[in-house]
Amino acid sequence: MFHWLEKNPFFFSVGVFVVIAFAGLIEILPNFAEASRPVVGLKPYSVLELAGKNIYMKDQCIACHSQLIRPFKAETDRYGQYSLSGEYAYDRPFLWGSKRTGPDLHRIGNYRTTDWHENHMWEPTSVVPGSIMPAYKHMFTNIADIETAYAEAVTVKNVFATPYGDEIKGTRAAWEAHKPAVLAEAAKIAADMKNKDVKDAVAAGNIPEVVALIAYLNRLK
Ligand code: HEC
Repeated sequence: MFHWLEKNPFFFSVGVFVVIAFAGLIEILPNFAEASRPVVGLKPYSVLELAGKNIYMKDQCIACHSQLIRPFKAETDRYGQYSLSGEYAYDRPFLWGSKRTGPDLHRIGNYRTTDWHENHMWEPTSVVPGSIMPAYKHMFTNIADIETAYAEAVTVKNVFATPYGDEIKGTRAAWEAHKPAVLAEAAKIAADMKNKDVKDAVAAGNIPEVVALIAYLNRLK
């Protein structure tokens, strides 16, 4: 019945366009619904958390971990409330992932603590016997790039109207003024850790990657 369409490039192109446009609409329209607005009380990531998120991406945690709890009983029993789209409003990019070699991490902040992460990132088998997760010892000496994270916060504030306050502004002076707050946030995490080199580095104004990463993991609730 549609053979004439297959032989007519113009109308065939129009048909393809209509089909793709319709599929596109079905994907895009739900984003305008109330349910995909930021959930009440959602705060944008702090600069330290953003730096941690970047390390999570750089070291490819997403290759083994999802951040998307599905609405099935087995998942909600294990991880808690299933994920809502509005929770990812400030995730650019979101890190849903599609592979679970390890468990989902979307609410890890509810049941793991800073000191647990410290042990686990240093040597996973020390807290989970038989764990096949790799150790991430380099994170205890590599220094996190918080300046780039700050620039990222400025960008998402300006481009996507992410609701940051006046402390996030695209000037060097604003960055210098905000840096002590980032260090203070890192110091709070380092205080719950036992690694002396990490504590010393933070005290000297350098934030090891593991501190930023833990700030990020603690935030996932
Ligand atoms: C090669 C796969 C793999 C990679 C890459 C990986 N993990 Fe894991 N992860 C696992 C496995 C398997 C487990 C379960 C065993 C365990 O707890 O150690 C796990 C467990 C965890 C847990 C504990 C989860 C819970 O519910 O107790 C956290 C937190 C975690 N990973 C964080 C990370 C972070 C952060 C990264 C990136 C720096 C990462 N993982 C990279 C495989 C991986």
